[in-house]
Amino acid sequence: MIYQAACATCHDGSRPQPFGGMDFHLSSAVNAPGPQNVINTVLFGLPAASGRQSAIMPGFAATLSDDQVTDLLAYLREAFAGQPAWPDASERLAATRNGKYQVSVRPSDGIERGPDNVGAQDR
Ligand code: HEC
Repeated sequence: MIYQAACATCHDGSRPQPFGGMDFHLSSAVNAPGPQNVINTVLFGLPAASGRQSAIMPGFAATLSDDQVTDLLAYLREAFAGQPAWPDASERLAATRNGKYQVSVRPSDGIERGPDNVGAQDR
């Protein structure tokens, strides 16, 4: 199971910052009406803020296939938000990977950075 293998070590709520992620029951991204924030975070991660300690999460664009991410999103929704999978998850995932949706990632210093590990453009 992908969540257990790739996410739980940081996200089960017991690991301290900078690598400790939140318990997804509390996540606004997992509870949001659309999947875009979770897709962005899973694909691109959260880069370190410059010059200070900050939360860091690796991106999984290179290691998880579209099917794996779609399954993961459905699992997160059901397990942590008690909701059905987002109906547009796989379509949005594909559009995010191929750069149709503009993506920027914002570490805790608030300065946006374009992800450099996929086709998405920083504009
Ligand atoms: C090396 C540790 C680490 C791993 C592995 C990791 N994360 Fe994270 N993640 C973090 C940290 C740190 C944050 C930022 C603090 C926070 O918001 O929880 C974060 C934030 C997030 C957020 C934003 C939460 C919100 O609502 O603000 C999502 C969604 C997320 N991670 C999903 C995942 C998923 C899905 C996986 C597995 C594919 C994963 N993460 C693997 C450390 C990690």
